[in-house]
Amino acid sequence: MTLAEYVSHQQFRIDDTLRRWVPPESTPPESIHKAMRYSLFAGGKRIRPILCVAAAEAVSDSPVGIESAACTLELIHTYSLIHDDLPALDNDDLRRGMPTCHKVFGEAMAILAGDALLTLAFQVLAQMQCEPGRKALLMKELAVAAGTVGGMIGGQVNDLEGERKHPSAALLDAIHRAKTGALLRASVKMGGIYAGADNNQLNALASYGEHVGLAFQIVDDVLDVEQPSEALGKTAGKDAQQKKITFPAVYGLERSREMAEEERMAAHLALQPFDERAERLRELADFIVHRKA
Ligand code: IPE
Ligand code: IPE
Ligand code: MG
Ligand code: MG
Ligand code: MG
Repeated sequence: MTLAEYVSHQQFRIDDTLRRWVPPESTPPESIHKAMRYSLFAGGKRIRPILCVAAAEAVSDSPVGIESAACTLELIHTYSLIHDDLPALDNDDLRRGMPTCHKVFGEAMAILAGDALLTLAFQVLAQMQCEPGRKALLMKELAVAAGTVGGMIGGQVNDLEGERKHPSAALLDAIHRAKTGALLRASVKMGGIYAGADNNQLNALASYGEHVGLAFQIVDDVLDVEQPSEALGKTAGKDAQQKKITFPAVYGLERSREMAEEERMAAHLALQPFDERAERLRELADFIVHRKA
């Protein structure tokens, strides 16, 4: 199976799982379920759940049921995007090639849809089939990665407050590792935990996740400068307009591209303890850095 075939197979599997966990639009109150499903199924790449599945497959031959754990990452990620786009945060009109959640459903419903996806993620972890010890570790991993100390919310706070600050390399690194890196790292670690990774394997996966996590946001910043809105499915040039602390702003485009490449190579290096079973993870690191949207 080529990587493209693998990715579309996993996307189908994740979407199918999400459809089963998220209440149908016909369930009252209909408006919130419509808003949740609108943003979830607007066409995301599903990178985080795919990394989770690939990490589990690097550890175990057939990690049965991994798709439910994996889809909790997409629930958290989509909630973070809905809130990121709100007028009080980045104030964006376009997401995944469609009008943003608050543009279609209003600000109040978009806030609630984000809250609901966040809550549902932990409901799914609580209800899915999994050995209780591992389940508790998965919940902790996801909660910390989405949280305020080195996690997604902490990073979003620094990102917003950074708009009024002088861009420094140290602040940039901290923002990116937290706002995006933490959830990508958790994606890979959760796959490992679910599949029963030993400590060595888990450390290797965490290191890989940290490098692809940083690379992912460097590339997101570069694409914001280089690509048109139509290719991105979100408003291009937004970061410079809002004086965000980004890799191109601090290092310039060329050095940013080199740094993404360095992270890609470091991610490969981190996977040395694994054999060919980690080949998908290696391909995904390449995909994350070389993508055009
Ligand atoms: C965009 O994430 C927001 C960041 C954290 C950089 P993705 O590029 O994964 O967005 P989707 O899920 O494919 O829409
Ligand atoms: C968002 O970073 C990170 C999140 C936690 C959602 P950005 O603000 O750069 O994401 P985009 O470019 O709007 O997707
Ligand atoms: Mg933002
Ligand atoms: Mg944004
Ligand atoms: Mg961005």
